[in-house]
Amino acid sequence: MSAPLRTQVAIIGAGPSGLLLGQLLHRAGIDNVILERQSAEHVLGRIRAGVLEQTTCELLDAAGVGARMHAEGLLHRGFELCFGGARHRIDLHGLTGGKQVMVYGQTEITRDLMAARVHAGLQTLYQAGEVVPHDYDTTLPRITYHHDGQARELRCDFIAGCDGYHGACRASAPAGALTVFERVFPFAWLGVLADTPPVSHELIYSKHERGFALCSMRSPTRTRYYVQCSPDDKVEQWSDAMFWDELRRRLDPATAATLATGPSIEKSIAALRCFVAEPMRLGRLFLAGDAAHIVPPTGAKGLNLAASDVHYLSRALIEHYAEHSDAGIDHYSARCLARIWKAERFSSWMTSLLHRFPDTGAIGERLQRAELDYLTGSHAAATALAENYVGLPFDA
Ligand code: FAD
Ligand code: DHB
Repeated sequence: MSAPLRTQVAIIGAGPSGLLLGQLLHRAGIDNVILERQSAEHVLGRIRAGVLEQTTCELLDAAGVGARMHAEGLLHRGFELCFGGARHRIDLHGLTGGKQVMVYGQTEITRDLMAARVHAGLQTLYQAGEVVPHDYDTTLPRITYHHDGQARELRCDFIAGCDGYHGACRASAPAGALTVFERVFPFAWLGVLADTPPVSHELIYSKHERGFALCSMRSPTRTRYYVQCSPDDKVEQWSDAMFWDELRRRLDPATAATLATGPSIEKSIAALRCFVAEPMRLGRLFLAGDAAHIVPPTGAKGLNLAASDVHYLSRALIEHYAEHSDAGIDHYSARCLARIWKAERFSSWMTSLLHRFPDTGAIGERLQRAELDYLTGSHAAATALAENYVGLPFDA
């Protein structure tokens, strides 16, 4: 084994959580190294989230990586619910006293964070294999891994487990240390990315008897659309023509008539689940982002929750090094979980409102319709939706 590396905070995973944490710590003078299983190109090839809350944008600004987002991102002051053959606008800006969301892809955030990391000269070891965290119940945690064909070790003060749902950190917890909560929904999302102009300048969430559909975008010339599908479906079963036909059927006739179609440049299927592992801290190991929790995507909370975890974790670590106080570290898990459970609630509610369930029957359909009518007819109900959609404040 070659001589061990040493850093203050060892971060596992170069997704948005790990990269953002690394940048915020660096700006506070805290040294960090990232170990990532995949190559940088692979990480950048994953098409995922697209809607950012204002607090997430502020955090990207604090990390010094907000410039391109402000130049190229699209500010949205509302979105539409489509049901019963018509579109109904939710005025986010008006209902929340001036808040809005930013449409800017996770791929672009990742690209900006990777560039900032290279510029800062911070170490990222891509294609690190067999990453295993050890001894985080002591003051001398370490990580063993393989890189460039060699077995290596990274010693550190703290380990940040930013390694997603299938990562090594949560899996390393001793039996009984974590309590896991999980609900898997009986459907999935088929997503298509295409270089076509958006069908509308705002997002459309559509409830249809054939199933849910979502019209989103990445830019004025690039769209991201989703249709609810079976969790057993395979991408190969869905030709582009089948996808566009199905999306058109699930929109109101006026919108369907103006839908521009074209060849897909990416197509993928994602399962829908709620998942939370508690607590999010085990000694000197912290879980952040998808490593600790998954929300169903309806409402676009996944990436935003990862950002709020990183906000609490960066503050806690900065407090530890700068003020010699561990109060933030001690409160990290509870602070994150308070916000996470509210987002789990909202995402589950929005998922239940808009999807076709295989087993709820006619009464389920009628109750969904009543709730949609209530939302679009009641200022109080629309305000609750808008307040959650734009994102709850960090300390709510
Ligand atoms: P990840 O992005 O998963 O990053 C974790 C990183 O850790 C990865 O780069 C991975 O390669 C690395 N890693 C894993 N294991 C190891 C290991 N053993 N050693 C070293 N590195 C490791 N959210 C939304 O808000 N809207 C959406 O539309 C949306 N769509 C999604 C579609 C899919 C298919 C998925 C999976 C998620 C989607 N999400 C969406 C959720 C959102 O993308 C995530 O919440 C966000 O990526 C979380 O960031 P993260 O950094 O915590 O985890
Ligand atoms: C997107 C994904 C979501 O889950 C959502 O609620 C809105 C937008 C997107 O990928 O653009």
